[in-house]
Amino acid sequence: ALEGPAARPLAGKRAIVTAGPTAEPIDPVRLLTNRSSGKQGFAIAKALADLGAEVTLVAGPVALATPVGVRRVDVETAREMLAACEAALPADIAVCVAAVSDWRPETEAGSKMKKGADGPPAITLVENPDILATLSRSDRRPKLVVGFAAETNDVEDYAKAKLARKGCDWIVANDVSVAGTMGGDDNAVAIVTAAGIERWERTPKSEVARKLAERMARALS
Ligand code: CTP
Ligand code: CA
Repeated sequence: ALEGPAARPLAGKRAIVTAGPTAEPIDPVRLLTNRSSGKQGFAIAKALADLGAEVTLVAGPVALATPVGVRRVDVETAREMLAACEAALPADIAVCVAAVSDWRPETEAGSKMKKGADGPPAITLVENPDILATLSRSDRRPKLVVGFAAETNDVEDYAKAKLARKGCDWIVANDVSVAGTMGGDDNAVAIVTAAGIERWERTPKSEVARKLAERMARALS
């Protein structure tokens, strides 16, 4: 392995990584959330720290240990996740891996909703802020902003559209219709940039993270 400065090409650089799901309260005992283990985001935070970056990991509710050398901020809702990311600016790199709930209940009931003669309650949803798009368009925009896209079909077309819509530099697309991707230890991804598409073989999430961190270090050098 490399030693000295070459081993830590991100020394002096700051990175923000979002990971895990968000959880949006319906009432004191119920949540609206997403399926996400947080494994890929935590692996990316570790890989960036291994290359010398000062990493803030903004994590939704997950059952994972904090990688050594990483500053972790725990949040629940999308709005809390956005606020924690903005508080971590300025940064050189932002990587949004979190599975953010697109919507939240318009109001949080102050007390537990009870079954009754009126039948099931209707829950009105409102849209959450888009953290990736907000960071991409911020006047303190990190130099490199990377999003993820978990899709089930037309993966690359959707990823290209997302790159444009979000204003980020790269979209890392993965096909979650492949059995074992959600919650599993492997990932097959395609990196979509303005320059084109690069497909990577199915590899452990730790390896995807290491290769991505190295690609980010090259992009900043
Ligand atoms: N993202 C985010 N904030 C949101 C929604 C998404 O930061 N409120 C980020 C995710 O972390 C990911 C990227 O945006 O990096 C793409 O998320 P995705 O759910 O695929 O995109 P959406 O714009 O929400 O579109 P879709 O309707 O396909 O869910
Ligand atoms: Ca979404």
